[in-house]
Amino acid sequence: MNKIPRKNNRPSTDEYFGLEAKAYGTSKWMARNQIQTTIKVLELLESEQIGGQIINKSEKSIFLDIGCGTGFSSHTILNSNFVNRVIGIDISLDMINQCEKSSDLHLILSDMRYSPFRSETFNYIISISAFNFASTGAQSKNQMKILIQKALEALEKNLTNNGRAGIEFYPNKTEEIFFVNGLKKLNFIGGLLIEQPNSKREKKFLILKKVR
Ligand SMILES: C[S@@+](CC[C@H](N)C(=O)[O-])C[C@H]1O[C@@H](n2cnc3c(N)ncnc32)[C@H](O)[C@@H]1O
Repeated sequence: MNKIPRKNNRPSTDEYFGLEAKAYGTSKWMARNQIQTTIKVLELLESEQIGGQIINKSEKSIFLDIGCGTGFSSHTILNSNFVNRVIGIDISLDMINQCEKSSDLHLILSDMRYSPFRSETFNYIISISAFNFASTGAQSKNQMKILIQKALEALEKNLTNNGRAGIEFYPNKTEEIFFVNGLKKLNFIGGLLIEQPNSKREKKFLILKKVR
């Protein structure tokens, strides 16, 4: 299979359709990477800056997984100890079709920038290696800003008050500024966390709590 060329070493959404989706879903490396990152993000949901430990974990909760792909992250969430239902959304039906079925996992073909849900549906939202695609299709910096804002607004709309979101993503510098500035206009506490900055192991997260 010919590799899809990458710009600045970042994948494009074309990598999640057709045979590429199958290759993604059967990659052991990708499974390990997505599972480890999801576990890390689940831990970050209990960061001090967004209220610390979640005490009512036994009250089982509903999670949204944005860009759920072939389900590595969704299944990791389901295996954690405070979830009874995960809704995964993804823009690629080919990715969704690779997902292992579970009665507690519901998959919806949807674009993260246009929420199909009733307001305040989810107690928690997670997104692993997908939220940077908010700017896909932008032809200018202004369009990039508008699309990123739409994804942030959908995130805010979907979360319950006091709901928490943990996002691992890989924005470029311009996108990062639009994400950080866009958040200031919305009802969130928390913000951008960069681990091991400027190294090969750098990871970026948005750790957020909705507070109206
Ligand atoms: C690196 S994969 C991450 C998948 C998932 N976290 C996992 O554990 O396998 C990124 C996913 O984001 C999805 N995606 C890209 N743009 C999207 C959009 N606008 N709305 C929803 N999903 C999108 C892609 O189709 C792809 O499945």
